[in-house]
Amino acid sequence: MAKRILSVLNGDVTDRVPFWFMRQAGRYLPEYRDLRAQAGGFLNLAYNPENASEVTVQPIRRYGMDAAILFSDILVILHALGQNLEFVAGEGPKLAPIRTQDDIDNLSIEQIDQTLSPVYETVSLTRQKLEREGFDQTALIGFAGSPWTVACYMVQGSGSRDFALVKDFAKAQPEQFQKIIDLIAQATIHYLSSQVQAGAEALKLFDSWSGLCPEEEFTRWVIEPTKKIIAGVKEKHPHIPIIGFPRGAAERSKIYLDQTGISAIGLDTDMNRQWAKDHLQTHIPVQGNLDPEALLAGGAILENQALEILETFHDKPFIFNLGHGVIKETPPEHVDQLCQIIRDFKA
Ligand code: CP3
Repeated sequence: MAKRILSVLNGDVTDRVPFWFMRQAGRYLPEYRDLRAQAGGFLNLAYNPENASEVTVQPIRRYGMDAAILFSDILVILHALGQNLEFVAGEGPKLAPIRTQDDIDNLSIEQIDQTLSPVYETVSLTRQKLEREGFDQTALIGFAGSPWTVACYMVQGSGSRDFALVKDFAKAQPEQFQKIIDLIAQATIHYLSSQVQAGAEALKLFDSWSGLCPEEEFTRWVIEPTKKIIAGVKEKHPHIPIIGFPRGAAERSKIYLDQTGISAIGLDTDMNRQWAKDHLQTHIPVQGNLDPEALLAGGAILENQALEILETFHDKPFIFNLGHGVIKETPPEHVDQLCQIIRDFKA
């Protein structure tokens, strides 16, 4: 029997709604916090195949999700290109900003696999572990960030509420910004294709900040590079499903769906459910939407919202997920509750 998530991504409706959760591996799990403390930092986890595959499988052992997602980060590709990257506990990523031609010239795409090969090894090791431990229904998802979102961190040098500096940069120096976007896109095609070669069964492109891209530049910085990545990966792996997640893009998600070639689309928390059902799910499988705050709250709040989502989307291809990542204060029992609600749901 094909794995449920892969059937849904292929356009089928399965016996029950399959599920996984963004950031399902991470700080809300005590076993993650233990391993992270032992490893001495996030990058030591991410670049160590034994540790990273362990973290990837941790939530599957507890909850038996229908997909595991590779444990890594969208910013490691910048590290591989030669940009300094650090994850400071409690503060998020810190990077040496890339803004001038000299900064760009100091990066190199030739040797990215020197940094990224442990990630590919993590993919193959995770496939082996899942199989060995009897999770033969759990698919492994690989991922990368979309160029716009990765460029936001690359140019800013850290997280930001609005990435105003990056938006100004793209407006003031569009040719320079284009070089940055093209470099990320090219590296990402190789990075994702290599994940598939190592055993990833589906891919996800995180465009967490696409909602911040100015309307008149959305085609240039969000649509075009995404389309290029999808074409580039599909050239090597024509059947690999690719889930796009243009967070905050609201009704621009329809243009994204029509023009990029993605196989399925992630819905964030703000997405209007009925609109998504009518304009997106009529074309391709959809995934997501549960407010991570509802999972944090648990109880009736969680149950009501989860059931509303299931009622809305279950009769066409749908993967249950959150609208953004699991919040680190979430009690692990609330995740149990949610898995139970999804498994018990009868149309
Ligand atoms: O479980 C999974 O979802 C797989 C692993 C994964 C991580 N990051 C691990 C991580 C994935 C898919 C990501 C994607 C990612 N990373 C995105 C896109 C999705 C989103 O959240 O919008 C973005 C924007 C990043 C960049 C990033 N990484 C930030 C801003 C931060 C700091 C904020 C935070 O949550 O701490 C990270 C760090 C990070 N990436 C952690 C994890 C588990 C926390 C690191 C730690 O253990 O301290």
